[in-house]
Amino acid sequence: MVSDDFFLNVGIDAIGFYAPKNRLSLDDLAKKRGIAPEKYRQGLLAEEFAVPEYGEDIISMAIMAAKNAITRGNINSKEIEAIFVGSESLPYAVKSVASILSAFLDVHENAFTGDTLHACAGATLGLLNAVGLINSGIIKKALVIGTDISKYPLGSPGEPTQGAGAAAMIISKDPRIARIGSKFGKVSGHVDDFFRTLYSENAEVFGQYSTMAYLNYVLKAYDDFKYQAGPFLADYYVFHAPFGKMPVKSFQRIMFERWFDNPVKLKAMLDKSKERAFTQKERDLILSGKEELHPSTIKTLQEWKFTDEEICGLNYFYKDWLALKLMPCLDVPMRFGNCYSASLWAQLFHLMETRVKENDTIYFTSYGSGATAISGMFKMEPGFKKLVAEGPTVLDYIRKKSRIPVEQYEMYKRDLLPAFLHTGHVLAAPENKYSLDIMECDYGCILPVQSELQHCPSGHPGVHKRSFPMLGIVAKIDEVDVEIKDHVCGDCVYLLGDVKAGNNVELSIRRLKVDENSGLIHWYPTYVLA
Ligand code: HMG
Repeated sequence: MVSDDFFLNVGIDAIGFYAPKNRLSLDDLAKKRGIAPEKYRQGLLAEEFAVPEYGEDIISMAIMAAKNAITRGNINSKEIEAIFVGSESLPYAVKSVASILSAFLDVHENAFTGDTLHACAGATLGLLNAVGLINSGIIKKALVIGTDISKYPLGSPGEPTQGAGAAAMIISKDPRIARIGSKFGKVSGHVDDFFRTLYSENAEVFGQYSTMAYLNYVLKAYDDFKYQAGPFLADYYVFHAPFGKMPVKSFQRIMFERWFDNPVKLKAMLDKSKERAFTQKERDLILSGKEELHPSTIKTLQEWKFTDEEICGLNYFYKDWLALKLMPCLDVPMRFGNCYSASLWAQLFHLMETRVKENDTIYFTSYGSGATAISGMFKMEPGFKKLVAEGPTVLDYIRKKSRIPVEQYEMYKRDLLPAFLHTGHVLAAPENKYSLDIMECDYGCILPVQSELQHCPSGHPGVHKRSFPMLGIVAKIDEVDVEIKDHVCGDCVYLLGDVKAGNNVELSIRRLKVDENSGLIHWYPTYVLA
């Protein structure tokens, strides 16, 4: 068993999550595509996924997740000495997301910024960078973010596994939430399971092969972690989740191929489990492979001369462990879909916010196609609960949703969502605690914090520091349904959607304009209905 001194005095000090509020029900999608809804619900263990709104991209989501982490942890953003961002939905081929985020998060200019990339494992590599820099005393605090929108073609097998979300964490010494283990499991190789070319919106995937690669690497990372750390049994298990069924399969493989991989161990475990009588109906269901145990596992057990009663007992033992150690975090893939680099971390946060207790251990495995798998362990700190109790929690975002019709999702996929954009004035709401301060030119181009560089490279005049409250009330609408031409200046702001004077609104940084000639992208502070 891993002992307390296995854990470093470095780890997670604050957490924040964000996901778009629009959700597509997979029952609706299945109906439209002529597919049995059970294939998605039971076959993939997926119920709905998050669909971004107009102009909502990985920058919009990352800012919200980071702001949530900073405010929930009461962090002084000037103390953040590094931002590492994992993403596979990058806006530019060259220009880091981390540098863009620094303009919105009030981070000190003497900080490292960079994107750490390896498909869905990007944020995990950012975490490793942060842990290494902090543990060696080079920096004290880092912000690590995973932010992604997963995209597959309309009607493709990957379509029901899309999703969106961002997860941000502050990593520091003397962490208040969880300490990270000093050893990691790791495995990497050249695997053509999944990729996206530079000019394509959607990922290409060899679907069945990708699931084999995932399961193989997750198990190999487990073996390497056990080799590095010694035998262990964690209180909870979290895996990257392209959809809910994959972590379930991983857990099943670890249980039956590593823990109970021979009849002697299995029989000993059975002796400890509670006796339970099974009806003929239950027995038939389990033995036909329609319950938790896979038909191949049942076949092996029969070859090992397990009786039907014993197989049914094992099925229920496995079901209990699954419910206890893995299932609580699967709300995340089931509700938001595949958030790629944010998937693992959002699940971990959800677990920390809802289930785990002080001193509990959590084993995690990150998987990034191409491929790599990294596994490790966290131990919860005494007193962590008060840091995760106050929202917005992952559960708050699960609840804060609006179901959209398939037609709206298809318009989003075809880039045909209408911009219902207005100009107007917003006052800070009485409950507002935080604002975003941004340097910009007269045309709204964002300028750096360094005063020597505060002139717009596009040649626009003006240098302004503007402060945008996170929560506001619409004081007045000036113009309805405007074109995005030039940026709005002075006290005027953009508002999006069916917003009227008196409405409560929240700030969202939206990608509203791309320069036709240069391809330069403009993100503008925009208010949307709260
Ligand atoms: P598919 O090929 O259409 O589905 O798409 P299938 O035929 O394999 O069926 C899926 C499951 O539904 C099966 O269950 C069926 O039996 C069951 P299983 O045997 O696997 O347990 N099923 C039903 N169940 C109940 N009632 C029914 C019914 N019909 C079938 N009527 C596939 C599946 C994964 C290929 C597809 O969704 C896909 O291409 N997804 C995208 C790729 C992906 O997510 N791969 C996963 C591993 S790779 C990874 O995790 C990395 C990634 O996150 C990216 C990164 O790292 O950057 C993707």
